[in-house]
Formats: sequence, structure tokens, C-alpha cells
Amino acid sequence: MASAVQLEILDLRHFSASSLRPVLEEESRVWSERLHWDYRSSADLLLQYLDSRILPGYVALENGRIAGYAFCVYEERKAIIGDVFILPHVSQGVEEELLRHLIDLLQHSPGIERIECQLLLHTHGLHEEVFRQSGFKLFRRLFMELELKDFCEFSSGPMPDGLALYPWRESDYHPSSYLIADAYEGHLDSFINDQYRTVSGSLRFLHNIVRFPGCGLFDPLSSRTIVRSRDGSLSGLLLCSRVREDVGHITQVCVAKHLRGLGLGLRLIEACAANLRDRNFAGLTLTVTEENANAVELYRKIGFVEKHSFDAMVWDSRHP
Ligand SMILES: CC(C)(COP(=O)(O)OP(=O)(O)OC[C@H]1O[C@@H](n2cnc3c(N)ncnc32)[C@H](O)[C@@H]1OP(=O)(O)O)[C@@H](O)C(=O)NCCC(=O)NCCS
Repeated sequence: MASAVQLEILDLRHFSASSLRPVLEEESRVWSERLHWDYRSSADLLLQYLDSRILPGYVALENGRIAGYAFCVYEERKAIIGDVFILPHVSQGVEEELLRHLIDLLQHSPGIERIECQLLLHTHGLHEEVFRQSGFKLFRRLFMELELKDFCEFSSGPMPDGLALYPWRESDYHPSSYLIADAYEGHLDSFINDQYRTVSGSLRFLHNIVRFPGCGLFDPLSSRTIVRSRDGSLSGLLLCSRVREDVGHITQVCVAKHLRGLGLGLRLIEACAANLRDRNFAGLTLTVTEENANAVELYRKIGFVEKHSFDAMVWDSRHP
């Protein structure tokens, strides 16, 4: 007769980086297999945080052995659930238990008004019940990929009058925050990620992407801007990071509201893809909210294919 499994959920801060290293190594393998991302630098960063014992989260022990973990980070009055992961032999219920503990901790933490979570590695619907029961709203997101070996640009002709396409320059950093806040005003994605709602939030987003290895390593060579010649103001932006030696990931693409529908989004993405193809990259990936139909349509038109779908979750005590 099989003996019952004894499950304990304990504070992540009681565990050393070395005790969690095998779980993170397995997680890196899954990121690489499922999404073609090299997760090792993110795992190293996580191990550093674990070493300093400051990362809030939980570890699941099955019969005294580490079975998985979940963690979050705080950003003023917001908490972001970073990830939840269990080893392959462990039952899915353990992942749910980890999430329940973490959500309960955050919803009862004084000062935390909002919780955001995007479980990129986990298939759409997998943890729907846990999040819905706790009052979260869920949004289906798509992970799309473009194979670069057969990629050909099809946008032709000159840029619209008075606009020019440039590679990313360091001086674009601050103007980009104004463009992002403006482009996402009233947009569904600014409900999922509230950084997009303000210039200061957009700067924080840019800091994570451009200066800090928050999502791969920022790749200025394939990142592009569209600039208005008259006054040098920014009308479009595409940021790309290197998530594997030969895979790029678009972390941001947006066009000023009054210039949409002129083919600028198409040009930004094609310029990025052509740059990566010419540097022998194999693929370009991105994520998009399924309801953002214009963007999904644009990506499909270029040749991006949906490879995976996952959920974004939001809980806001001020707007239940
Ligand atoms: C998504 C976005 C970057 C597209 O930029 P854009 O310059 O307006 O797009 P383009 O003019 O290059 O559109 C190219 C194609 O996309 C699709 N598309 C774009 N806008 C569309 C719309 N309003 N309705 C239907 N299809 C649309 C069409 O296939 C279009 O080709 P067509 O003009 O031959 O029909 C822009 O709408 C934007 O900044 N949105 C807000 C931010 C955002 O959602 N970013 C993406 C997050 S994943």
C-alpha cells in the first residue's frame, strides 16, 4: 500500500540558495524546452536573492524533501507573483497549495492593494480556480514565435512623410516613458500591468527591461524607434531582448495613437526581425493579450505563430 505523502508549506526565507538550486535547474530546463528561453541568468539572480534571505514566498516539502516553490516581489503598494514551480514527479495540487498560501499572505499584508501575476510557463486555465476564488480577474495571453530563417520583409516604399526609423539610442530612454504612458492610456494591457498608466511607472518598466536583466538581456542593435523629423519627438518604439543566444523577444512595441494604421507597427517589427535574421538569430518571440485583436492580427500577418497560451491575473482591492 502506498504511504501517504506528508506536505508542509514553509517560508522561503528559511531556505538557502544551495537547497533550492536543483529546483531552479529543473525550472531552467523547462523554460528552455517550452519557450526557448535561457532562464539561467534569471535563476542566478533568484539564487542571489535567496542567499540574502529577503525573497518573500513559500517552499513545499513532500516527506521532508523540496518539491517546489513560489515567490513574489513588492513594488510599493503592489506585489507581483514572480513564479510557482514544482518538480516533475510532484502533483499539481502542490502548486495550487503554494499559490493559495502566497495569495493569502499578500491579501492580508497591510499596505498591499494590488497583486499582479503572469505565469508564462503555465498553460492557460491551469490555476484559474485558485485565482478566481481569491477574487482575481484573468486574461488569456498568447506566446507567439516567428522563425527567422524564412523571414522576408513585405512592407515596402518610403516611410510616411516626416517620420524616420532609427536604432535605439540611450537618449530615447526618457522620451520612451512618455510614449508608453500615452500609447497605453485606456488600453487593456494597462489594466494587467499598471506601470503603463503613468510616466513614472513606464520609467520603472524601462529600467527593468533596458538597464536590468528583468527579461533577458536588452538588445539595442535590434531595438528601434520612429522619430518625427520636425521636432525629434518619439512616435513609435520597439524594444527587444536576447532571451537565448539565438532568440530575441519583443518586450515592447507601441505607436503613438494618432499615427496608427499607417504601417508603422509593421515596420518596427520587420526592422527588428531583419536585424536579428542578419545576425543569424533563429527566432523572435513575443507575448500578447488575446483580446488585443489589432496586435494579434499584425503579428499573424508578419508570420508569428501561436505556440502557447497562459494567463495574466490581477487583483485590486480598490477596484474589486
Ligand atoms: C499594436 C500597434 C503597435 C500596431 O501599430 P500600427 O502602426 O497601428 O499597425 P500597422 O499600421 O503597422 O498595422 C499593420 C497591420 O496590423 C493589423 N492592424 C493594425 N491595426 C488594426 C486595426 N485597427 N484593425 C484591424 N487590424 C489592424 C492589420 O493587419 C494591419 O495591416 P493592414 O493595414 O494592411 O490592414 C498599435 O496599435 C499600438 O501601439 N497599440 C497599443 C500598444 C499595443 O497594444 N502594443 C502591442 C502589445 S503586445
